[in-house]
Amino acid sequence: MIRTAPILAFVALTCLSFSGCQQVEQPLEAAPMHVTSDDHSFGNPSLVRVVHADLDWTLNFDARQLMGSVTWTVERSDITAPLILDTKGLSIEAVEVGDHRGLRPLPVTFGESHEAFGSSLVIPLHVGEDHVKITYHTAQGGGGLQWLLPEQTAGKKHPFLFSQAQSIMARSFLPCQDSPSVRFTYTARVRTREGLRPVMAAGMLPDRDADGAYRFEMPQPIPSYLLAIACGDLVKESVGPRTDVWAEPAVLSRAAYEFGDTERMIQAAEALYGPYQWERYDILVLPPSFPFGGMENPRLTFATPTILAGDRSLVALVAHELAHSWSGNLVTNATWSDFWLNEGFTVYFERRIMEAVYGKARAEMEALLGRQDLEEDLQELPAKDTQLKTDLKGRDPDEAFSNVPYEKGYLFLRAIEEIVGRERLDPFLKNWFSVNAFQSRTTEDFLGELGKLLSAEERTRLSIDQWVYQPGVPASEPRIVSDALTKVDAITRAYSEGALEAPEIETADWTYHHWLHFLRALPKDLSRNRMSDLDLVFRLTESGNSEILHQWLLIAIRTGYQPAMPALERFLGSMGRRKFLKPLYQELMKTDPDAARRIYTSARSSYHSMAQATLDDIVVPR
Ligand code: BES
Ligand code: ZN
Repeated sequence: MIRTAPILAFVALTCLSFSGCQQVEQPLEAAPMHVTSDDHSFGNPSLVRVVHADLDWTLNFDARQLMGSVTWTVERSDITAPLILDTKGLSIEAVEVGDHRGLRPLPVTFGESHEAFGSSLVIPLHVGEDHVKITYHTAQGGGGLQWLLPEQTAGKKHPFLFSQAQSIMARSFLPCQDSPSVRFTYTARVRTREGLRPVMAAGMLPDRDADGAYRFEMPQPIPSYLLAIACGDLVKESVGPRTDVWAEPAVLSRAAYEFGDTERMIQAAEALYGPYQWERYDILVLPPSFPFGGMENPRLTFATPTILAGDRSLVALVAHELAHSWSGNLVTNATWSDFWLNEGFTVYFERRIMEAVYGKARAEMEALLGRQDLEEDLQELPAKDTQLKTDLKGRDPDEAFSNVPYEKGYLFLRAIEEIVGRERLDPFLKNWFSVNAFQSRTTEDFLGELGKLLSAEERTRLSIDQWVYQPGVPASEPRIVSDALTKVDAITRAYSEGALEAPEIETADWTYHHWLHFLRALPKDLSRNRMSDLDLVFRLTESGNSEILHQWLLIAIRTGYQPAMPALERFLGSMGRRKFLKPLYQELMKTDPDAARRIYTSARSSYHSMAQATLDDIVVPR
C-alpha cells in the first residue's frame, strides 16, 4: 500500500520536541512516503515492526465487546518513522508510548482509511522508545469476532465467542500490523464471565491469575491472521499424547471419537516433512455458525461441527489444518496474492497424509472430487482469478476466495511430483519448510528454489509460467484416476438411463466420496420419480453426513424435489458454513428466489459476517 504524507514527518518531529504533544485527531494527506509489498495493510514494518504483544483482554458478553489493551514491543530500523498499525472498527481509548521503565500518553491519531481495510493508527515515537500500549474496545458485532446467543450453541445455556482473523480481520479485534509478512510472539491474560472457559491458539497456562484471568503464551512468532480466541462452555478430552479435543459438553464425546486418528496423522506428517514444531495439536469444535470447515490456528485448530459424521469420513479436514502447521504456519504466504503457497501446498500435504493413514484409494477419491470442485470454479470465475498468483490490489482477499489456490495449487505440486518423483520432491519440500521456518515467502521465492531442483528440460516440461501466471489449467495436468469412482460412473450411467433401479445399486461399501461422485453426475433434469426412489431407498434427505446432505439438497433444488425442502430449510437455518450456504442459496435463487429471500431473511443474523458478506451479493432483494 502506498501511503502517508510529509505531514506525518511533521507530526513525528513535533512530538520529538514536545513530549506529550497534544494535537488532535487529524487526517493525514495521502502522498507516497514508502511502499510496502502488502496491498492489504497500512503497516510500515520495513521502518518500525512489531515483534511482541502483551494482551490484556476482558470478554464482555453483555456488551458483546472485547475490551482491554495491547502493549506492543517494536523494532525500529528508521528512527524518524512512526509505528503504523491497522485497525478496523476499533474504539481507541488511549495510546501510550515509552520503554520498559514507563509510558507517556499520546493523542490518538488516525491516518488513512478504506472501507475494507479500516483505518491506520499512527504513533510517533521518541528516540529509544520501543513500547506502545493501546487501550481499546471492539465494535459490537461484525468483524473478526462472532458473539453467539445461547440458542446458537449445543448446550443452549451459555453464550459463545469465537474469532476468525484470516485474512484481514485481526485488525478488528487487535490494533496490529495485519500482514502475513509480520510475525510476533505474545502473552495474554483473558478475563470473562465465571462459568465460561476462554481458549487461545497458544500455550494455555494451567493456573489462573489472582483476579481470575486465564493466561496464554505464544513463544513461536506468528502472523496476525493466526491469532485466535474462543470462549464458551468448553470442556476437553485427551485423544492422543499431544492432542486434546475441546468442545461443548454435549458434543465432546462425538468429537473425541471423530478425531481419534489425529496422532497417526501427526506422525505421518512428521515422517514426510519434519518434526511438528508447535508442541501441542489440539482441536476445538465450534458451534455450527463457524463459517469455515476449519481454520489452522496454531496449536488449536478450529473446526466446524458439520464434520462430525460419526464415522471419521470427513477427517481430511483435520489432515488439512494439521498440514498447515508446516505450509502456512511455519512458512507463510508473504502476501494474500501468494495464498496458493498456503493452500495449494496444504492440500497436497493433506492428501499425502490421507494416503499414509488411510491408503491411496481414499486419497485419490478426494483428489478427484477436488478436481471437480476446481472445474466448477474455472467455469465461473473471471480468467484472472484462475491464476495461482493473483492480483488483489484494492480488493478484500476474501472476495477472490475460491478453489483455485487449493486445487490448482495441488495439481501444480502433483505435476512437479510427476516430473521429479517423490524421491526428489519430498526432501526438497522438507528442506523448504526447515530453511524457511517462521518466515514469510512469496511465490517467486518458491519458484527460485524450484528452478534449482529442476533440470532445464524439466523446467520446460513443467510449464511453470502457465501454472502460476496464466489462467486455467495446463493441458499437461496430472491425471487423477480413482478405480472406485470409475465403478461409480458405470452405476450412475445405468441409473440415469433407467437400466438400473435404486434398490439394485450396491452401496454397502460406499463412503461419502462415492455418494458425492454419484450425485454430482446425475442428469440435471432427473425425474421426480427417480429422485423419490433414491430418497426412499437411501434416505438421503435424512443423511447425517453433511457433505452428502449438501449435495443431495443441491440436486433437490435443481430438480424441484419438494419433499426435501423442509430439510433444506432446516440445514440453512442450523449451520453457517459458507461452503454449504453459498451453492445452496445460489441454486435456490435460480429456482425459487422468494424462498431464498425468506429463508435468508430469517437466518441471516445467525450467520458470521464473512458468510453474510458473501450471501448479501447472492440473495439480492427483489
Ligand atoms: N485457512 C483456511 C480457511 C480460510 C481461508 C479462512 C481464507 C479465511 C480465509 C483453512 O485452512 C481451509 O482451507 N479450510 C477449508 C477446509 C479444507 C479441508 C479445504 C474450509 O474451511 O473449507
Ligand atoms: Zn487451508
